[in-house]
Formats: sequence, structure tokens, C-alpha cells
Amino acid sequence: MLTGGGDCPGLNAVIRAVVRKGERQYDDELVGFLDGWRGVLERRTTMLDVERCRGLLPRGGTILGTSRTNPYKVDGGPQAALDNLRAERIDALIAIGGDDTLGVAEKLAGEGLVVVGVPKTIDNDLSATEVTFGFDTAVQIASDAIDRLHTTAESHDRVMVVEVMGRHAGWIATEAGIAGGAAEILIPEEPFDIDAVSDRLKGRHERGRYASLVVVAEGATPVEGTMQLQSGERDAFGHVRLGGIANLVAKGIEDRTGFETRVTILGHLQRGGTPTAFDRILATRFGIAAIDAVHAGATGQMVALQAGAIVLVPLSDAVGQAKTVDPDLYHGVAEVFFG
Ligand code: F6P
Repeated sequence: MLTGGGDCPGLNAVIRAVVRKGERQYDDELVGFLDGWRGVLERRTTMLDVERCRGLLPRGGTILGTSRTNPYKVDGGPQAALDNLRAERIDALIAIGGDDTLGVAEKLAGEGLVVVGVPKTIDNDLSATEVTFGFDTAVQIASDAIDRLHTTAESHDRVMVVEVMGRHAGWIATEAGIAGGAAEILIPEEPFDIDAVSDRLKGRHERGRYASLVVVAEGATPVEGTMQLQSGERDAFGHVRLGGIANLVAKGIEDRTGFETRVTILGHLQRGGTPTAFDRILATRFGIAAIDAVHAGATGQMVALQAGAIVLVPLSDAVGQAKTVDPDLYHGVAEVFFG
């Protein structure tokens, strides 16, 4: 097993489920690679057994560690990964990750590796599964934060801009915004017009309601040519480090409306700590399905949630194309409460 990419509440629950069923029902010997694909390249492993997994279910993070190492960006990386897996006598790999980690798994499957994927990301932007574990926890954390910000916003008649994660898709922003009663939700899928946002907030003020919560996904972008964005460093998968759009949005609103505006960037708080019961159960179901899939001879596949059932889908259906926010949810539900 390995866990790759950003960590996510529920990773340990997957590991525990794979180990429990693998050891007790299939008599498997289970090994974890440390720090995602980097551990495969460096041949760093740890033995996993039921004893090692005691107390893991409610624990956030991953006991295996994680990284954003991409073997395809390392000279001779893919061949080294295959050689090392063979040298460790690995019959099958369970790769737990998001688009990047599973993208590598898919390519290595094409080169003969027996691999089954488990979808993970708090962003919920992975295709072919209705939901990923970690998302429910992130939404809960974000909506709890919005609730707290509401009372201080009301006391001071302020606009509060809350930035949540969501690089390519605004799932956390949309769902936490709906749950928290946001007056505006800005997401990557819908470039925002700061003038229109400010006008709606002014209208709200004129109707006698002052405090406003604006939820902005870190990957939200203004309509082209309306605001200047900063650019940051990139990781091995080419992603720019995001964070800080809320400051620009807040300044834009304050300049246009004159309303006192404050910013909260939730950042990695959304990824830390204990998973919700929903995420623990989903992660456990995914883990069990993954080890069952390995024993059924699956490869190049990913476990997924579809219509309430756990199914197997080709890894190629899951990677390469972000699952973006359902327009009906954004326009048909969230937007009803804007302004
Ligand atoms: O992996 C998803 C994610 O949570 C994104 O929403 C965010 O941009 C990124 O991880 C940040 O990750 P890190 O700061 O750990 O590299």
C-alpha cells in the first residue's frame, strides 16, 4: 500500500480495513511504502499488521506518510519503481490517492504493475466516484468555521471572506457555503465579477441586513482582465501553490462597498484531525473493496462509490479530468441565497 498527494482524513481507516481483511481473511503479508511514490523509488517500507493498526480508525493523516513525488518526473523513475516493487516481492499494490497518485498508478498498470486504486481527496474532484473520503470532514470543518464567523460578522456589521481549499473544483466552497448560509460563493468553475459581487452585497446592506459571509475556493478566478492574480511555486505535478485569493476578494469588496471586511483562510485545518463518521465508513468500505478486488485479480482499476454501492471502475475513467461542481447544485441551490 501507499498513500500519495495531500493527506486526508480517512487514509488510516483505509489502511486499517485493508490490513484487517487482508491478514484475517486472505492470510496476506502486508507492506506499506513510506511517503507515497517516493518510498517506492527509495525502497523504504514498513510491515503492516492488525496490531500496528490498533487505534487508527479515528486518527487523521496517514501513518505511512505522503509526498507529491512523481516517478515520471524522475530520471529512470518508472523503471526504478517497477524494479523495486519486484525486488520487494510485491504481488499487488493498493495506491491510495487523488488524481496525481492514481495517474501514476494508471501509467504503471500499463507497464505491467498489478495495482488497484482507492480515491482520496478532500477536494472531491476525482471523476468516476460520486464522492471521495475526506470531503465530508472538510465540509464539516468549513461550515463549523462559517457558523463561528457569522456571529462575529453580525456583531460588527462586517463582510467576512472565508477561503477554503479547492484547486480545480469548488465542491467544499459550494457545500460548506450552502450549509453555512453564505451570501456569495466563488468557485473555479464560475469566474467571478467583483463588481457584481460587490453590488449584490450593497443590495443586501440596503435591505437592512449587513453581515455577509463570502466563501471563496482557493482556485476561484476573476473574470479575465478584472483583477491581477499572484503566481506561486509549482510541485512535481505542475500545480501552483495556491492560497490568498481571499485577500484580493476582500480588498475588492471593501474598495467598492466601503464595508469593513475581514479575511479567514482555513488552509490545512480542513485536512487535519479526525474524520467524520461518514468518512470513516466510506474509507473502510473502500479499503475492504480494494483488498477484495486484488484477490479477485483486478488491476488498473479503482474502487468507487456509485449510487450508494462500491464498484470497480478503470483508473483511466478517474484520472485526467476533474469532477467539477454540479451546475444544478451551484445555480439551482447555492445561488438562490446570494446577495
Ligand atoms: O490535494 C488537495 C489540496 O487539499 C488542494 O485543495 C490544495 O491546493 C492542496 O491540497 C494543498 O496542498 P499542500 O499545501 O499540502 O501541498
